[in-house]
Amino acid sequence: MNKIVLFYGSSTGTCENLARDIAEKLNLDSSVVHPVSELNEKTVAAADTLLLGTSTWGWGDIQDDWADALPKLKAMSLSGKKIALFGCGDSSSYGDTFCDGMGILYDELKESGCTWIGTGVSTDDYQFNSSKAVIDNAFVGLAIDDINQNDKTEERINTWITLLKTQI
Ligand SMILES: Cc1cc2nc3c(=O)[nH]c(=O)nc-3n(C[C@H](O)[C@H](O)[C@H](O)COP(=O)(O)O)c2cc1C
Repeated sequence: MNKIVLFYGSSTGTCENLARDIAEKLNLDSSVVHPVSELNEKTVAAADTLLLGTSTWGWGDIQDDWADALPKLKAMSLSGKKIALFGCGDSSSYGDTFCDGMGILYDELKESGCTWIGTGVSTDDYQFNSSKAVIDNAFVGLAIDDINQNDKTEERINTWITLLKTQI
């Protein structure tokens, strides 16, 4: 039995909508989608797969609610769990820090013993200068720019979901 839960950090609703879209496309009940402010050990411990999302604020900062949640999550046992990341940002106004928050999540959790899924997302068709979410020329998870490339959002989610389904 593969139990999936989603946690998102969202200030104005974009990453929340993204989390809900992802859950729907994976045929998951909306009850498995949580704001990261509600992250707790019981829910994490019961999950086999975590889908973690964040927007990026300030100048390459992770969304505010992750400030409390990330140390909590790091203190939990994540060994053997699968983790996938998703993020949203603005590649035009913040082209030097595009989706950095997702890169911060990856960096902070890379020693956790988790198994990454949903990585290696092509940067083709994105326009930005740099991003902490890019490793070896690919995004570490799903990167969405709903502000400048709204027309590509649906296809990007669908492509990522197809990848995830082979790895979950
Ligand atoms: C003040 C401000 C700072 C931002 N900084 C970044 C940034 O550094 N990198 C980025 O990719 N997007 C940045 N953004 C864009 C947001 O991440 C984007 O609007 C996102 O969709 C917000 O998602 P949320 O509503 O889920 O929080 C910034 C937006 C604002 C208003």
